[in-house]
Amino acid sequence: MAGVYKAVKVTDNVYWVGAIDWNLRDFHGYTTKRGSTYNAYLILADKITLVDTVKAPFKDEMMQRIASVIDPADITYIVSNHSEMDHTGCLAETMEAVKPEKVFASIMGAKILQEHFSFSQEITPLKDGETLSLGNRTLSFMETRMLHWPDSMFSYLAEEELLFSQDAFGMHLATAERFDDEIDPAILYFEAAYYYANILLPYSALITKLLEKVAASGLTFKFIAPDHGPIWRTDRETIIKSYAGWAAQKPTNKAVVAYGTMWHSTEKMAGAICEGLKEGGAHAILMNMDAFHRSDIIYELLEAGALIVGSPTLNNNMLPIVADVMTYLKGLKPQNLIGAAFGSYGWSGEAARQVQEILKDMKVELVEEPIRAKNVPNEDVLAQCHALGKTIAEKLKA
Ligand code: FEO
Repeated sequence: MAGVYKAVKVTDNVYWVGAIDWNLRDFHGYTTKRGSTYNAYLILADKITLVDTVKAPFKDEMMQRIASVIDPADITYIVSNHSEMDHTGCLAETMEAVKPEKVFASIMGAKILQEHFSFSQEITPLKDGETLSLGNRTLSFMETRMLHWPDSMFSYLAEEELLFSQDAFGMHLATAERFDDEIDPAILYFEAAYYYANILLPYSALITKLLEKVAASGLTFKFIAPDHGPIWRTDRETIIKSYAGWAAQKPTNKAVVAYGTMWHSTEKMAGAICEGLKEGGAHAILMNMDAFHRSDIIYELLEAGALIVGSPTLNNNMLPIVADVMTYLKGLKPQNLIGAAFGSYGWSGEAARQVQEILKDMKVELVEEPIRAKNVPNEDVLAQCHALGKTIAEKLKA
């Protein structure tokens, strides 16, 4: 299978054989402005092993990259670290083409793969801590449940000190370059944080435990090879430390004021809150939900201390854009926030209280009851909004 797509050497015995999706712009509601990659890896051991595959439309690209190094029929094992379809969409076709002796996944992974694809070939389950001999190389496995699905696991290639980390330490970033040191660090760490906020944030407590488990294992890493974005071969310590920091979710003095607006009344309230926050010494971020994507808002919340949300009332409800954003934020479970709700209305005025209920569900510590403005906020209401901003800023300092 000759072709233009070539494998990229990671070590003498490991090659990247994934695919670059330059055009991906949405991943389940997460805006992926810079596309993504689906990383698969080939281990040239006595028993040649393919670690993960790619999203279905990219199978030919992956197979060409594999064929640039070996005959794909020489693959003995396939290891699936994560069952989500961006890594398994072409697994059935790959198994058909390669006819591997065995396909491995975690115990949960083997079950999920069968539920999704009903393979005729049995998937061999691997226990947490189990090792697999590839002849002259050894892979060991560590369950990483909920990072990002219940099936997820890490695979560690001891002889190369290389961790295949599937979704963890990844990012949605399409580049021709394959390694961290080849990419502008500002882009690299922005996209890593953006990915953490939009994918991994709800699992932060598990990530803290996993990082402790990895540290206790004494494993050393020369390479961290995720399933999305570049391979970490230089800045491994920094990305691990960044994960520890993001997972801890320590509140900062940053306050996010996010709002929807119809005729700018709620916007005026948001502006007054923002001014109060600034005057009180907080780092205020004002985000009109029509101008900022939900993914941008959760990114700003990753290292924040307060969330203040406004909505006008439309047909006895919050504005649809506010419901969209709040559903997304609630699902991603940001922790350790203080906040409040506000909003304008013409006659019934339910929205601010509805927003407050969602903030309560999110365990945001409410500083005060919602501020509401009938039709247009008058000077008294704007003063209340300003005071709310100052109060929140003072609490963030404390
Ligand atoms: Fe990249 Fe959870 O899949």
